[in-house]
This record gives sequence, structure tokens and C-alpha cells, in this order.
Amino acid sequence: MKEFRAIRGTRDILPEETWRWHIVEDSAREVFGRYGFREIRTPIFEASEVFVKGTGDTTDIVQKEMYSFEDLGGNQVTLRPEGTPPVIRAHVEHRLGQGKSIDRYYYCGPMFRYERPQKGRYRQFHQIGVEVLGVEAPEVDAEVIGMAMAWLQALGVADLTLRLNTVGDEETWAAYRTALVAAQADRLDELCADCQRRHVTNPLRVLDCKKPGCQAVIADMPSIHDSLSAEAGAHFHRVQSSLESAGVPVVVDPRMVRGLDYYRLTVFEVASGALGAQDSVLGGGRYDGLVGRMGGDDVPGVGFASGVERILLAMPESESAPITDVFVVAFDEESSGKVHDIVQGMRAAGVRALTQAYDGRSKRSQGKAAHRSGAPWQIVVGPDEIAADRYTLKRVDDGYEKTVEGGELAAIAARLTRPSNSD
Ligand code: HAM
Repeated sequence: MKEFRAIRGTRDILPEETWRWHIVEDSAREVFGRYGFREIRTPIFEASEVFVKGTGDTTDIVQKEMYSFEDLGGNQVTLRPEGTPPVIRAHVEHRLGQGKSIDRYYYCGPMFRYERPQKGRYRQFHQIGVEVLGVEAPEVDAEVIGMAMAWLQALGVADLTLRLNTVGDEETWAAYRTALVAAQADRLDELCADCQRRHVTNPLRVLDCKKPGCQAVIADMPSIHDSLSAEAGAHFHRVQSSLESAGVPVVVDPRMVRGLDYYRLTVFEVASGALGAQDSVLGGGRYDGLVGRMGGDDVPGVGFASGVERILLAMPESESAPITDVFVVAFDEESSGKVHDIVQGMRAAGVRALTQAYDGRSKRSQGKAAHRSGAPWQIVVGPDEIAADRYTLKRVDDGYEKTVEGGELAAIAARLTRPSNSD
């Protein structure tokens, strides 16, 4: 019979991995919470127009990576490829920004891009990201970057490099575009077909091409830093000095552009040396103008998103903590009814109790399961214990035993397994 398999580029996250996901998610909640961020959850699909407008119709994402389809009602919808446009759509739809308010959102969840799957690159992947709407100050750029670094460091993500650049503002673009188009036009035949198209639609995006032939041409292109307007230069300078006073080490990469159209001024990426080709764990930047283009009041914005799969690949290996406090074994099948009562009583008292006294499993088989579970405490229940209504909690690692009356068992187990709950 045919065996079903998960779709290419998607993965099951199995019970032996989910605890590591919880560490990443809990840490994000904790760290982002300290900075005043609150969670927002938007639908997994949106009207395609949200991304065509928001992500930008000249991006690779919109041109060739979206999971778009017409639903049964004839609506054109897309599985979200990124979190920024949906957050802005929700912010505008619910009129969340009032007056001069500053709104700080974070989000976690699956994103979908039809990319070529490889290690660290999937078609369904997960992002944890943040967006700050309503502030222009470069200090906020530095604040979200500093927060991203503090979070990744708290998780122990190995060998981090923060790369920073500016993509300038409108005045910069006018000057830079002219310089870039002229330089590219001279060597158009050396560029790949995609870049020849980008040369016309968005010459800045050529700088992002990883193909060796294009890289050689890119190395000779003028730098955006030669065309920066006074305002863009001042913004970049203030981001750098804020990061410096916060003690966040930065590598300025004058050629870094990001694969999204909405960025203006600050852009950044964090890479981990522990990863292979797909080494970017997090990326973001400022996108002033986007909220206005998406129909809201024209408030500025800045944010980032991280790839959870990549963070997990770059995090140190560690042992999972046991998920069971007390494993209860039935000496024989007749004792299993009492075992189930004991287990339920302990659970009601807040103890993580488990048994395998089902379907006539032998004591030996249950003992093996108890061992595999890693539960630090065990109880064996047989006719003698039931007759005396006394049970022995045994600590597995040193053999320490405590024998107690049936009526006290749950409360004492709770105290032994959760010492902090004792008073
Ligand atoms: P992005 O650079 O496209 O930015 O994605 C952010 C992160 O998502 C990447 O650094 C990477 O870790 C992860 N990622 C992207 N694609 C994949 C994939 N196919 N498989 C696994 N991981 C992936 C954005 O999405 C922007 N919305 C970030 C942002 C928020 N800018 C401002 N606010």
C-alpha cells in the first residue's frame, strides 16, 4: 500500500523536537515582553493583493515563490510568505495606531515560500518576528537590533555576525539608481537572465544575486554610500552610534541589500557560522512608507523576522528534561485498577504521573518503559501494598525510599517532585 509522506519542503516537528521549539518561543516571549512587545496572530492566508502590494511585485517572493490559489468562492488568496504585510493589514484594519501611538507587535508561526528545499530552507518554515509602527527615530532601529541579538545570545545560537547597512531614502535612490544603471548597462551581457530583468525593474536587486558571474560584476559596482543623502547618512550614523553605546558589535556591509522591496534606510541580517549555505538566522530593516502604501496613516515602521528552523540548527544540542515525575508500575494485572486511581490522584495534585499498566503488560515491560521515560521517581503497586494501603516512592538515581499511607500519597509525591510547591 502507498505510504503517505509529508509534502516536499515541509517537515513534521516530532514530540522529541517540540520541547526545543518551546525554548525558542518562550524565550522570545520573555525577551520581547521586556521591550514592551505584545503578540499578534493573523490568519495564515490573506488576499493575494496584501503581498503583491506589501511584499512588492518585483520581489522573487511575489514573482515566483507564493502559494496562491483561487478559493471556492473565486477569491484570490495566498498562504503568507512573510509576516510584515499581514501585521500592517491588521494594524490598519483595526485602527490600532491612534494619534502618536507607538505599536509594538511580535508574531510566531508558519510561512510558505515555494523555494528549492535544502538544509535550512523549506517551503513551510516558521518565523518569529517583530514590527514597531509609529517611530522614525534611528534609536528604535538600534533597539530592535539589540533585542534580536540579546535573544539569540540568550538561546546560545553559535558564532553570530550582525551585518548592517543602509539602503538610503528617495533622494539617495535617485542618485544611486543613475550611477548603478550606468555601471550595469556597460556589462549587461555578463549578468544572468534574472539580473538583466532586475536591471530594468529594480537595479538595486542585482546586488543581491549570488551567481558567480554576477558577483564579479557586482564587485565593481559603485557603493550606495557614495550616493547617500545627508538625511540618510545621518540616520545611519545614529543607528551605528546607538548600537555602539549599547555594546552591540556590528559589521557594516555596504553591499548588503535584502530581498524585499519595502526597505528604506536601515537593513540588517544576522548570520550564524554554525550554519551552511543558508546561514541567515534573522533579517529586517526599516520600511517607512509601507503602511501608507497599504492604506493606513503613513506611519514609519521597523522590524525583523527570524527563521526558527535555522535558530534550532545553530543552537547547542541539549538533553530534554523528563516529562514524567513519577512512573507507576503494576506488579500484576489485578493491581492495575489501583495503579490507575493512584496516577489520577497524583495528576489532580499537580504531579506529572504516568503508567503503562494497560492491556496486561508485564511488570518487566512496564519497568523498561519507566526507565526509558527518565522519570526520577517510581512506585511499584502490588497486592501487598494494596492490602496495607502503604506505597513506596523510590528515587531512581540514589535508591532513596519513602513509604506513605495511600491517603497521603498524592500530596507527598507533589511535595517531593515539586519542592517549590511545598509551602
Ligand atoms: P526574510 O529575510 O525574507 O525577511 O526572512 C527572515 C528570516 O526567515 C530569514 O533570515 C530566515 O532565517 C528565515 N527564512 C526565510 N525563508 C526561509 C525558508 N525558505 N526556510 C527557512 N527559513 C527561512 C522577512 O520575512 C521580513 N518580513 C522581515 C522583516 C520584518 N522586515 C521587517 N520586519
